[in-house]
Amino acid sequence: MSEILRQHAEHQYAEELDQLRRVDTRQRPPNWELSPWAVSTYLLGGKLDNGFEIAPKYIGQRRIIEIAVSTLATDRALLLFGVPGTAKSWVSEHLAAAIAGNSTLLIQGTAGTSEEQMRYGWNYARLLAEGPSPQALVQSPLMRAMETGRIARIEELTRIPADVQDTLITMLSEKTLPIPELGSEVQAVRGFNVIATANNRDKGVNELSSALKRRFNTVILPTPASEDEEVAIVTKRVAELGRALELPTEPPALKEVRRVVQIFRELRNGQTEDGKTKLKSPSATLSTAEAISVINSGMALAGHFGDGVLRAADVAAGLTGAIIKDPVQDALVWKEYLETVVKERSEWKDLYRACREVEG
Ligand SMILES: Nc1ncnc2c1ncn2[C@@H]1O[C@H](COP(=O)(O)OP(=O)(O)OP(=O)(O)O)[C@@H](O)[C@H]1O
Ligand SMILES: [Mg+2]
Repeated sequence: MSEILRQHAEHQYAEELDQLRRVDTRQRPPNWELSPWAVSTYLLGGKLDNGFEIAPKYIGQRRIIEIAVSTLATDRALLLFGVPGTAKSWVSEHLAAAIAGNSTLLIQGTAGTSEEQMRYGWNYARLLAEGPSPQALVQSPLMRAMETGRIARIEELTRIPADVQDTLITMLSEKTLPIPELGSEVQAVRGFNVIATANNRDKGVNELSSALKRRFNTVILPTPASEDEEVAIVTKRVAELGRALELPTEPPALKEVRRVVQIFRELRNGQTEDGKTKLKSPSATLSTAEAISVINSGMALAGHFGDGVLRAADVAAGLTGAIIKDPVQDALVWKEYLETVVKERSEWKDLYRACREVEG
């Protein structure tokens, strides 16, 4: 195992990408490493003709991934939109890895993202010593993606101030980036495109201008459709994370995963699964990503301070922490859920007790 805590997708899944490249005889868009078919097989998983298994990265509707991939083969950029924790960043990384063999041309959007970070900056020591020159120029990830015909990723696009976002318009419509200081420009090489992600909780923060919106195709990543699908996602990611972190814990019992997922879904949907009891929803986003980390922290507790088997007591602390983000409102919502739902389920007695103990 490598010492790197988290490998980029193109390294971690290098073998899968290589196997796909070998069998992939379909047409590739200019400068793509793989055909659209192979890219979506990489994301959704499948068995190759030679028997090699590609692990699924995204669990959900095939069509969503097909639309995302084919958008990137056009002159429009891709915007992955959805509630937090629906795998927007995850899908973006894997798409860039499969299409361009490089997922690292990344700009993390924040309120402080500047035009220089989007376009280019200067190495000021060289700029002062030599004046403006190509050597003094510091390229942004976007500029490098244009020059090399690769995919640039912009995380949390709507957190970027609107005027800075608009620097993207020329890059996306004219496919050029002017450098007036040098009297030159960078012209995008075929294969260049942009994948942006945005979160609906940030809606209205810095909404995309309509000029920019027209340069993007929006693909909405939904929360998992069914409990089974969500359980499958959590089980798979927890196993992968547990392996990477070398947690001394057995894979969690399906029952324990299902219980956490069910609690999250019930609180998110505002009613119990049988539809009989209405519930209040807490302020926290109870996404699949949070369910994954509740189980994951539970496994660390069980492995390091328990007997290596994930039990209710190991889940309870993480569960309470994930649900209670507001100490007053959410605490009430959770207490009500514990007393009216958890307590009443005969096979959940261990969890009820464990959660009451966390409360102290
Ligand atoms: N449908 C899914 N298939 C596979 N993995 C999923 C799915 N939904 C969520 N995940 C997992 O959830 C985790 C979080 O996903 P990610 O960070 O990409 O969410 P996000 O949508 O970017 O959230 P945010 O809006 O907070 O940035 C990842 O580990 C990912 O594997
Ligand atoms: Mg994200």
